[in-house]
Amino acid sequence: MSLLTVTGLHVDYPGGRAVHDVSFALQRGEIFGLVGESGSGKSSVCAALTRVLPVGARAAAQAVRLGDRELTTLSDEEMRRLRATRIGIIPQRPMTSLSPVTPVLRQLRWHTGNADFTELLNQVGLRAVLDRPRDAPHRFSGGQLQRLLILIAALARRPDLLIADEPTTTLDPTVQAQVLHLLLDLRDQLGLSILYVTHDLAVVAQVCDRVGVMYGGRLVETGSTEQIFTAPRHPYTRALLSALPGRAAAGSRLGALVPGPVARRGCPFAPRCPVVLEVCAEHDPQPVLDVRCHHTEGSP
Ligand SMILES: Nc1ncnc2c1ncn2[C@@H]1O[C@H](COP(=O)(O)OP(=O)(O)O)[C@@H](O)[C@H]1O
Ligand SMILES: [Mg+2]
Repeated sequence: MSLLTVTGLHVDYPGGRAVHDVSFALQRGEIFGLVGESGSGKSSVCAALTRVLPVGARAAAQAVRLGDRELTTLSDEEMRRLRATRIGIIPQRPMTSLSPVTPVLRQLRWHTGNADFTELLNQVGLRAVLDRPRDAPHRFSGGQLQRLLILIAALARRPDLLIADEPTTTLDPTVQAQVLHLLLDLRDQLGLSILYVTHDLAVVAQVCDRVGVMYGGRLVETGSTEQIFTAPRHPYTRALLSALPGRAAAGSRLGALVPGPVARRGCPFAPRCPVVLEVCAEHDPQPVLDVRCHHTEGSP
């Protein structure tokens, strides 16, 4: 059974619609990647799901189910409680979420109470937190702190769902790899489901079971990571893959995840699409078998 099912999610800002009719499901124990270039609507989806959109923004959905609960009909107070218990949100900048003067170990205990995290700290390479019980955050590296915050989000309240919005974007590659390992460990050990947002397809390949590709506020293709990488169906997904390092033609700078023009009507990808049809400029394609493309729509 799905842990999270999102059906027909829209998000509007005063400047216009940022998320159009997004639907996907996240299974228990699954890591689902939401991938797309900057501005494609990934953070808006996360903020709408957890109801933390900025003032002036509006979200609407046919349904958002978490386990056996329908979230769209919850009051703000009920939603706040849910955020504090069943949904863990991983902050993007660790330093702003920790007290700068209090020892890290004490802050971990505040949040996790009597939970025994010794073994987990060892496993995720954070023994230093135990070895240096009096050290404040500035004595640890950014990567250690980011992993610690993920641990806090996952352990403190034992959420069913972790939402990680580009948690490694500011980290160097070594630390990024450590964070990704930690997420995989947590999924394996705690059975967490993780919504993992990134603009980096290489990261998706490393950690995600399934992927949703966003362009211009639409989920243009959803599939298993294997299917997305071996048999992409949407022209945008194919363009992304061909621009991955190692796959791009020498000298090609066709931007993987470099923001490009988004059409205001019709298919949002039409201005960049190598196989654009006349109909694409007029009509936004409807999703057919997890792909939003007139080519798929027209096929039997
Ligand atoms: N606070 C905001 N006010 C107005 N428009 C916003 C706001 N946040 C995001 N947007 C717009 O919504 C679109 C999607 O943004 P966002 O969800 O942040 O995308 P991503 O996370 O994929 O980079 C963009 O066009 C952006 O300009
Ligand atoms: Mg974002």
